[in-house]
Amino acid sequence: MATWLQGEVVENKRWCSDLYSLKIKTDPLEFTSGQFVRVGLEIDDKLLARPYSLVNTPQDSLLEIHFNHVVEGELSPHLAGLVKGDALQVSDRASGMLTLNEVPDVPHLWLFATGTGIGPFLSILNNPEPWQRFKKIILVYSAKTREKLAYRNDFDTLKARYDEQFSFIPFVTQQQTPDTIHSRITTSLQSGELEKHANLAISADSSHIMLCGNATMVSDATALLEERGLRRHKHSEPGQIAIEKYY
Ligand SMILES: Cc1cc2nc3c(=O)[nH]c(=O)nc-3n(C[C@H](O)[C@H](O)[C@H](O)COP(=O)(O)OP(=O)(O)OC[C@H]3O[C@@H](n4cnc5c(N)ncnc54)[C@H](O)[C@@H]3O)c2cc1C
Ligand SMILES: NC(=O)c1ccc[n+]([C@@H]2O[C@H](COP(=O)([O-])OP(=O)(O)OC[C@H]3O[C@@H](n4cnc5c(N)ncnc54)[C@H](OP(=O)(O)O)[C@@H]3O)[C@@H](O)[C@H]2O)c1
Repeated sequence: MATWLQGEVVENKRWCSDLYSLKIKTDPLEFTSGQFVRVGLEIDDKLLARPYSLVNTPQDSLLEIHFNHVVEGELSPHLAGLVKGDALQVSDRASGMLTLNEVPDVPHLWLFATGTGIGPFLSILNNPEPWQRFKKIILVYSAKTREKLAYRNDFDTLKARYDEQFSFIPFVTQQQTPDTIHSRITTSLQSGELEKHANLAISADSSHIMLCGNATMVSDATALLEERGLRRHKHSEPGQIAIEKYY
């Protein structure tokens, strides 16, 4: 049986009309970067809860989630309306396998995110571990518009700190902007452009790829990687691809 921690909203940041991040105060919660919790609200005397990845690191004192306001959704419009001091519930256990302890030691870690799928990768990248383990980390992040590319300052800070070890490759699909690639991640992967941008080849020997966000991006990119000989990673059968589908 899931039990719940009482949470209190400390901040609700609105990035643009339908994109938010909530900072939440709870009793301490143990988790590994990349995992998700369930977040819930009492609505009409019933607890309505959904899974959300944690953006913060395990060392941070506040929990953070990054989410879309899905207009027709049951829970997310209520989350979007929360203000400082409001109550919400957080599952007392985190779950999920999109974590570094599932990743074998390889030189190159590739992270593919669409939309709010960036959350678990922020938690992972804001720890020392990946920078000690991987020669190169390439973060590939796609959103429809430039304003939906959230947490840009965090990536600038990581770039300043890790320089050549870190490549940040932003994609914006519904707008032309000067400093982003105007295409889908999958199109760029298929054409070879993505590897040209990273100045690095993806291969089964040297790369591990973690993918998170839109389910069709995750499936389509996985299929392209499988055509090139990479395989889904399992405990029993090590591979190079780890995924988390949100919707
Ligand atoms: C393991 C896991 C982790 C997740 N982590 C996050 C996260 O960190 N941030 C986040 O925004 N969502 C995340 N989700 C999705 C989230 O749990 C909810 O489904 C989402 O917030 C919609 O909930 P809702 O009750 O408002 O809508 P629902 O009534 O549950 O669904 C309405 C519609 O919204 C679509 N939908 C679901 N999620 C999204 C989304 N993120 N963007 C656009 N459309 C969506 C569904 O396909 C569905 O058709 C995660 C899902 C899973 C399975
Ligand atoms: N009302 C509508 O018609 C409608 C439609 C979509 C979303 N929404 C709403 O918008 C919000 C979600 O939008 P979002 O921008 O966060 O998420 P998203 O639709 O998942 O898009 C995020 C990024 O992923 C890309 N992408 C999507 N499918 C892909 C695939 N198969 N392969 C490669 N890349 C892919 C998108 O490119 P593209 O721009 O090329 O798709 C975009 O750059 C939700 O609130 C949702 O309800 C509404």
